[in-house]
Amino acid sequence: MNIILLGPPGAGKGTQAQRLVERHGLKQLSTGDMLRAAVKAGTPVGLKAKAVMEAGQLVSDEIVSALIGDELDAMGAGTGAIFDGYPRTAAQAESLDAILASRGRKLDHVIELDVNEDALVERITGRYTCATCGKGYHDTFEQPKVAGTCDKCGSHEFKRRPDDNEETVRTRMAEYRAKTAPILPIYEARGIVARVDGMADMDAVTASIEAILA
Ligand code: AP5
Repeated sequence: MNIILLGPPGAGKGTQAQRLVERHGLKQLSTGDMLRAAVKAGTPVGLKAKAVMEAGQLVSDEIVSALIGDELDAMGAGTGAIFDGYPRTAAQAESLDAILASRGRKLDHVIELDVNEDALVERITGRYTCATCGKGYHDTFEQPKVAGTCDKCGSHEFKRRPDDNEETVRTRMAEYRAKTAPILPIYEARGIVARVDGMADMDAVTASIEAILA
């Protein structure tokens, strides 16, 4: 099973992708996570991507499509993929078709998380992750069970993303409206798009996604 999770910044793509990994043994392919790892490691890709990401703009299609191809090659052929934050442009959607076809894979579902953009600013500016294992939390919506201690790995160190400030979030949303939302019709024409109410609580969103995959 290969799935695209589509939605603006803060729609819950990463949150739901992590749950799909746990429930279905799929692999989460997040171009945002790959780029942040490249920035942290100071690779040539990371050096190119850093300022673009901090401004909330899109990194080049060639870079992200190459990252996705490499990740798929590193996976077992029998493991399904969740594309989280990719594709984001028409050119990336075209590349993904070629990448999948050349590896004998096909897309099964495109799940759009339908959200109210104004509420997303609060979601994004309040989120943080465990610095050790990457588990996501939120100041209001998902706090650790024991304050200051990660539920999953027990670490006491947390971090926030440099692009999670209001000004950059607004730019990221504008990029989504201008470049990413227009790719939906490509998949609608194939009859593989399903919409989920991304403003429902996290468990309800998960249940809606499970119903689509059943
Ligand atoms: P990326 O990392 O992909 O960021 P994004 O698309 O902006 O998405 P987010 O990670 O911000 O949001 P999400 O939908 O995953 O929400 P989450 O689950 O965390 O990209 C970052 C940058 O990298 C881009 O700006 C660009 O520069 C570059 N880039 C990446 N991919 C690229 C590509 N393909 N092409 C070009 N450039 C690319 O949820 C948010 C918060 O809300 C969390 O705290 C969560 O706990 C909470 N939450 C989630 N669901 C709910 C709910 N139902 N109710 C209440 N709270 C919820």
